[in-house]
Amino acid sequence: MTSPVIDAYNDIRASVRRIADPVADCETIVLNPDAPPDSVEAKPPYRLKDLYSNIDRYRTIAVDRWHSREVMQDEWEKLWTDTWLMAGRVQDCAEAGDWFKFDLAAESIIVVRGKDDVIRAFYNACTHRGNRLVRDDWGKHFKCFTCSFHSWMYSTEGRNVRVTDRETFAPEVLKDDIHLREVHTRTFGGFVFVNMADKPQPFEDYFRDVLPWWEKYGMENWHVVRDLTCVLPANWKLAMDAFQETYHVHQVHPQAIPLSQDYLCQYDFYPNGHCRTLVPIAEPTPRIPADNSLNPGLSFLLTEVGIDPATFTGGRAGVRGAIQQAKRQPDNVFGLDYSNFTDNQLTDDWSVTLFPNTTFNLHPEGALVMRFRPHESDPEQCYYDVMVICPKLKSGKQLPAYMGVGPDVDISGAVRPARERLHMTELGEVLGQDTDNIPFVQLGSHSRGMRGVARYSAQEKRIQQFYAEIDQYLSGQKHRS
Ligand code: FES
Ligand SMILES: [Fe+2]
Repeated sequence: MTSPVIDAYNDIRASVRRIADPVADCETIVLNPDAPPDSVEAKPPYRLKDLYSNIDRYRTIAVDRWHSREVMQDEWEKLWTDTWLMAGRVQDCAEAGDWFKFDLAAESIIVVRGKDDVIRAFYNACTHRGNRLVRDDWGKHFKCFTCSFHSWMYSTEGRNVRVTDRETFAPEVLKDDIHLREVHTRTFGGFVFVNMADKPQPFEDYFRDVLPWWEKYGMENWHVVRDLTCVLPANWKLAMDAFQETYHVHQVHPQAIPLSQDYLCQYDFYPNGHCRTLVPIAEPTPRIPADNSLNPGLSFLLTEVGIDPATFTGGRAGVRGAIQQAKRQPDNVFGLDYSNFTDNQLTDDWSVTLFPNTTFNLHPEGALVMRFRPHESDPEQCYYDVMVICPKLKSGKQLPAYMGVGPDVDISGAVRPARERLHMTELGEVLGQDTDNIPFVQLGSHSRGMRGVARYSAQEKRIQQFYAEIDQYLSGQKHRS
């Protein structure tokens, strides 16, 4: 089956050629060799082979890990219940009594701000017979949670404050803890993270190498402008793999290659499974013929920052610098203060994985946040969540087109958008392109033709790290509780 969205760019795809100066090991690429060691764009000191002595084994993986119920159960017991998971935004529990729900496989968690202004997380299960206490995505200004079955009641701090007809229960039934069971919670960058382990790895340790540069974005002051979720007929890992490499870009997003460097990217790896790719934007791929003229993609990027391509004399080689300079101006078109960012951050896409299941495409003007949640019972389905967040931009400005936020969407932050539940055919152009192959990869992975394995190149090293880190949990090496 051929995708109509891919067919629309056949002319660009037809110009794709072999790369003249190939690099076999992408891990050796450093975009700014002059960056001081404390710069956010400096190459971190970790090499994959130092982080994982067995990393070479992950050039192939057994595809049954995308099908197996045993693996799914193992992941629940050793991975999901032992890692820091991005549950949602602080914005959704901004005031006392505000809460949101975070579902993960068959589990459900309520994140709520108590009257004491503390954000806590609890299992979303009434301690009487287990009824889900909340079913909506979020709620505002709750005084308490009342179970819809027999009206047991819990405070926003998780205390049981009413056992209806208490006298009818034998005392020993109620002597154990009947308060809501708490889950560890931390906030950072405006996100709430939860960890179900009894004794979790300390949050600061888990994200140690990411937090110092991640915090520069100031995402605690950003707001949600789009929020959607979609069921994908694929294992959560297979789906997430598609967002952890740029190898697919020339084929899947041909419209992007005249304006983005999909090959000479910087691949950075950190302990605990986190990683990032720094993808230069406003610089065409080496896969298409080069001269110093502008192409429509580069012209579009110039226009976005208020430069008229018709009068621009810098040629193709001057586009990146011109965009960076334009954003440095105090009266820049986005109305943002870019002083926290390096020049390269002003143009580039920073594609980040926070292990185990969240990816970010970070830009000073906004972030595309994607999360992959396992299905409650079927290893061959998952939930794909997409959230777009951004700072307050000058009125009338738009987010980068690939984020799928159209001109009709209010990005001012005045309104918190409802969560859209979409079919995968409704995801818009770029996310539609990204997800188009995923069901067919899941199907094809069952084929005898695969001989049981998938194969990964150096451009897919983030995926190799992903499976190596997962296996550290599944093997017990990292399992804590
Ligand atoms: S299940 Fe909640 S009160 Fe009975
Ligand atoms: Fe993509």
